Amino acid sequence: VLAIVLLLVAAYLLGSIPTGYLVAKGVKGIDIRQHGSGGTGATNVLRTVGKGAAIAVLAIDLLKGLLAVLLVAAVWPQVAALTALDALWQPWVAVGAGLLALVGHSKSVWINFTGGKSVASGLGVLIGLAWPVALGAAIAFGLSLALSRIVSLSSIVAAIAAGILMVVTGQPLPYAVLGALGAFYVILRHRSNIDRLLAGTEPRLGQQSPDQG
Ligand code: G3P
Repeated sequence: VLAIVLLLVAAYLLGSIPTGYLVAKGVKGIDIRQHGSGGTGATNVLRTVGKGAAIAVLAIDLLKGLLAVLLVAAVWPQVAALTALDALWQPWVAVGAGLLALVGHSKSVWINFTGGKSVASGLGVLIGLAWPVALGAAIAFGLSLALSRIVSLSSIVAAIAAGILMVVTGQPLPYAVLGALGAFYVILRHRSNIDRLLAGTEPRLGQQSPDQG
């Protein structure tokens, strides 16, 4: 059991690495949580720091989610030997690690349990567990972004698409559970965006949002 707890803690700590916060501090000397949407994700880095920084944050945040689930696969033989758990448990532990990486990203222990909205890290988790679902979700995101030019709306569309695709493409039950919980969590993290979307004040790509910090 200790081995599983350690794995889950490692996934949380991996997700917790506050990439966007560190990049904004390092490049511009600002606390990104005081600017734009207040989020530490690539979207707000794009808004407040710039394109190159945003791409780097997107890539690293994606890797955090991917590594969290790959870590489970990599150490599973040792964990199974220590815990006498059979292989059926592996996908459930991978799902737990994926979800904890998402929680780590948005409630980072290093920055007072603040963070981002777990979209990039969520895509990384999907790539690691079920890449066709990740591809479908990325396409849904791209289509929505092309039509609306609004990242938050497109993230919500992609989260819902991922949840549906997990079921439609016949993924194992643990992955379907991850799809549902992950989508719910990502949408929950977008509450302030949803309020702005309903009020018609959510900024489109390239527009500045009023600082909320
Ligand atoms: O990935 C987060 C995105 O969906 C919204 O970011 O900064 O506009 O709240 P932001």
